[in-house]
Amino acid sequence: MVDSGPISPGQVSFLLGIIPIFVAWIYSEYLEYKKSSSPPKVHSDINLVELGEETIKDDDRAVLIEGGLTRSASAKFHSSSIKANLIRFLTLEDSFLLENRATLRAMSEFGAIMFYFYISDRTTILGQSTKNYNRDLFIFLYLLLIIVSAMTSLKKHADRSTFTGKSILYLNRHQTEEWKGWMQVLFLMYHYFAATEIYNAIRVFIAAYVWMTGFGNFSYYYIKKDFSLARFAQMMWRLNFFVALCCIVLNNDYMLYYICPMHTLFTLMVYGALGIFNKYNEISSVMAVKIIACFLVVILVWEIPGVFDIVWRPLTLFLGYTDPAKPDLPRLHEWHFRSGLDRYIWIVGMIYAYFHPNVEKWMEKLEESEAKRRVSIKTAIFSVSLFVGYMWYEYIYKLDKVTYNKFHPYTSWIPITVYISLRNFTQQFRSFSITLFAWLGKITLETYISQFHIWLRSNIPNGQPKWLLSFIPEYPMLNFMLTTAIYVLVSHRLFELTNTLKSVFIPVKDNQKLLYNFLAGVAIFTCLYCFSFILLQIPHSTA
Ligand SMILES: *[C@@H]1O[C@H](CO)[C@@H](O)[C@H](O)[C@H]1NC(C)=O
Ligand SMILES: *[C@@H]1O[C@H](CO)[C@@H](O)[C@H](O)[C@H]1NC(C)=O
Repeated sequence: MVDSGPISPGQVSFLLGIIPIFVAWIYSEYLEYKKSSSPPKVHSDINLVELGEETIKDDDRAVLIEGGLTRSASAKFHSSSIKANLIRFLTLEDSFLLENRATLRAMSEFGAIMFYFYISDRTTILGQSTKNYNRDLFIFLYLLLIIVSAMTSLKKHADRSTFTGKSILYLNRHQTEEWKGWMQVLFLMYHYFAATEIYNAIRVFIAAYVWMTGFGNFSYYYIKKDFSLARFAQMMWRLNFFVALCCIVLNNDYMLYYICPMHTLFTLMVYGALGIFNKYNEISSVMAVKIIACFLVVILVWEIPGVFDIVWRPLTLFLGYTDPAKPDLPRLHEWHFRSGLDRYIWIVGMIYAYFHPNVEKWMEKLEESEAKRRVSIKTAIFSVSLFVGYMWYEYIYKLDKVTYNKFHPYTSWIPITVYISLRNFTQQFRSFSITLFAWLGKITLETYISQFHIWLRSNIPNGQPKWLLSFIPEYPMLNFMLTTAIYVLVSHRLFELTNTLKSVFIPVKDNQKLLYNFLAGVAIFTCLYCFSFILLQIPHSTA
């Protein structure tokens, strides 16, 4: 059943890249150990240096690759001359390794996790089982989690009678993260238990994430006015570094993890919308024109037949996807479907962000006004929200999946708006959040990507995760507990490692260095890739 496919050049390049890093890290740990146990004898381990060199110089060509790698590493690690660092890494120079021990360790750990991904998903070493849906169990588990986390981690965030600018932002982050968290849990459980009956709700959750992308990015650019390349590169790193590695190591298309290209696209769109002529962002008519322009772009690309293909065909290499279970669909079908579903909601998020300060001021006034007025306005809002939510549920949500998807792009703002207004209904309610969910909300990207391989199982390149990873056959619940624990732990580590490496490789306030790092990265990958490609041709030509 497991078909890991032929070994790809990407996989070979990954191995070629990670092995020297791993060796260098082990050696740096050894150096550190020696240094701490016997400080004066740092240079007494010449034998080991030679040994280390030998392992790497096994193959002449590998050294060439190694050279490329070193260059990247040094350009990334230090601003000092590339050549000097090249030599320092090649000779496994003690001070260089000691200085960069933490980075080497982070890279090695990342590599080890990717290795675990491969083992879990593409080999028969670990078992697999089939999904099984039971509504009772599904709801029971979800409610259990809510009760437990509410009992243990409910927190009140700011105890204040009037709103102040700063604490609102703070509150907001807690709330959005908690929101992400509880949606993510349902989204993941939906995959784990194949709970197809909540398909429509899942579509709304994805729309809510995209809404948050529009909302968060708009607020950031509008208020902070930080259009710097470094900051943008950091965001791109956060969104795409881990997924890129997964694609390489597991030989998957980027579109398999459709959340990533989608958020990348919409982040880019918000950046573009606000970045162009950003001097005039304060003028409300300019902002109105920008938002209308966003709508027009979306209408042009997604609503007018044929335009989508013309725009995206050149990027088929990145955005194409063929599900092995449905090989007849066009390569761009998945991208069209996924990006189309949420094509408007990011703009809605931008609009909400734009009016957010006004709404906040209005709410502040409302809180201060006399009790009678306050209660009546709040009751009115509350009942209208409930009514609208109910109508949406009755007439849109209950539709079958295909019909629902047709209406989704135009209606997903309704449940989102209802949620927001109910969630902010009273001041007490606003100020509480469940921190466990907020914690999970922070690592949604990692849990989203990891689930495919170390919680579920896809078995083949580009396969949808149709199976469950199984450590304990015959005990589905125990297995669920064990795999979930490992999976959440690994996801959290990946989140931290992505951030550690981000701060190493993406310098702030030095665009030239950023460019060098980028070019070095591309160069190394190209070298590794070409070399691996040639390497893989050799057995073919002799056979
Ligand atoms: C912009 O959106 C992306 C995708 O959701 C997110 O990762 C990033 O943190 C957002 N940026 C800001 C400043 O909120
Ligand atoms: C209301 O809550 C949502 C998330 O739950 C948040 O994003 C939004 O900013 C809040 N609105 C106000 C006005 O505080």
